[in-house]
Amino acid sequence: MGQAFSITPARRLSGEIAVSGDKSISHRALMLAALAEGESVIEGLLPGDDPRSTAACLRALGAEISGIDGPSVRVRGVGLGRLHEPADVLDMGNSGTTMRLMLGVLAGQPGLFCTLTGDRSLRSRPMLRVVSPLRQMGARIWGREEGGRAPLAVWGEQLRAIDFVSPVASAQVKSAVLLAGLLAEGLTSVSEPVRSRDHSERMLRAFGAEVLVDGTTAAVRGPARLRAQSLRVPGDISSAAFWLVAGSIVPDSQLLLSGVGVNPTRTGILDALTAMGADIAVENRREVCGEPVADLRVRSASLKACTIGGEWIPRLVDEIPVLAVAACCAAGKTVIRDAAELRVKESDRLATMARELGRLGAHIEERPDGLVIEGGHPLVGAGVESHADHRVAMSLAVAGLVAAGTTKIADSDCATVSYPQFYEQLARVRQP
Ligand code: S3P
Repeated sequence: MGQAFSITPARRLSGEIAVSGDKSISHRALMLAALAEGESVIEGLLPGDDPRSTAACLRALGAEISGIDGPSVRVRGVGLGRLHEPADVLDMGNSGTTMRLMLGVLAGQPGLFCTLTGDRSLRSRPMLRVVSPLRQMGARIWGREEGGRAPLAVWGEQLRAIDFVSPVASAQVKSAVLLAGLLAEGLTSVSEPVRSRDHSERMLRAFGAEVLVDGTTAAVRGPARLRAQSLRVPGDISSAAFWLVAGSIVPDSQLLLSGVGVNPTRTGILDALTAMGADIAVENRREVCGEPVADLRVRSASLKACTIGGEWIPRLVDEIPVLAVAACCAAGKTVIRDAAELRVKESDRLATMARELGRLGAHIEERPDGLVIEGGHPLVGAGVESHADHRVAMSLAVAGLVAAGTTKIADSDCATVSYPQFYEQLARVRQP
């Protein structure tokens, strides 16, 4: 159990925040650099626990990675198909992205044997969604529940290209299959019901792979060769989301979030908050290493309820916990639906948010695929728990900014998974 964090209401928030690097892009930058030929330089990498898990695995597989704590990280890649067999179990900590994407990388390395595990949360998360398409490609993967849960073992094989129709809109599933396709002969494609985040497609192209995209289908041609690159990771819109909500609900606030990634597959939070009446300006749009970036300015606003579901969900899937906090402060009944995927994240986020916001006095009801929140009932500070889930911990801290009295969040330091500077930046923008 980690440390507790206590928070009292803020009078106002103001200042500029450089949110830390995008978690999804940081994982992909490390992985593709490790699979490329030559030395890549990555600036702005997220110094969080999850990318560190990816870096540790890639080191165990033969990549040389230096400067992970500094502003620019150097990665000497081994080249596709040339990973070394690790001498020990690969521990992926809390990181679902590391495990799912690395399964795609490892399954196609002929003759390589690896075992993969993680923390209690990761060992409970569903892996068949990735293991099944990889098996269709010829992968040999074993694990608990017939390969459905870690620990998992992989014996690398020469894989076949497939056309996979995914039942879920999941960038982790899509990316795992595309990464496996890099070493298969021919075109490997993945079609999704709704397009998920496309960072893998963009970055694979930047590293020199042939990537084809048509609507909700993405494909890669193998065998590919990746060449080392210089990259800059944009700020994480999923981390910016905490400030977008905090700046909206704390009175008299104004925050400027600089250098945030605004890839259209990730900007559902901007659309949802705007529909709720938030005052968010997107300024200084630019492109950084193939990803759209902008500065976001948020000012306090009176929020109103809205309905969030359908095609919006994949574009804001990680922001639903903090959107639930916004909904507590919005006039009317907010309905979040089609979000059953939240049950298989770092925690069951529908259950954990309903329970913990309920402890603060929120009128919140859990549904099988979402939440119904009646806003406008004042929150009152209480003891709450993060359930070892980084986004739950930070969402509860945002709620604590408007809850009367003191909110004490147990096990709050899991925020380091995706946003190590969060509490420090919160102290800086909070005005006395
Ligand atoms: C991620 C994809 C999403 C997201 C996760 C990161 C990625 O998961 O929730 O935090 O980096 O590809 P799914 O692909 O399972 O929806």
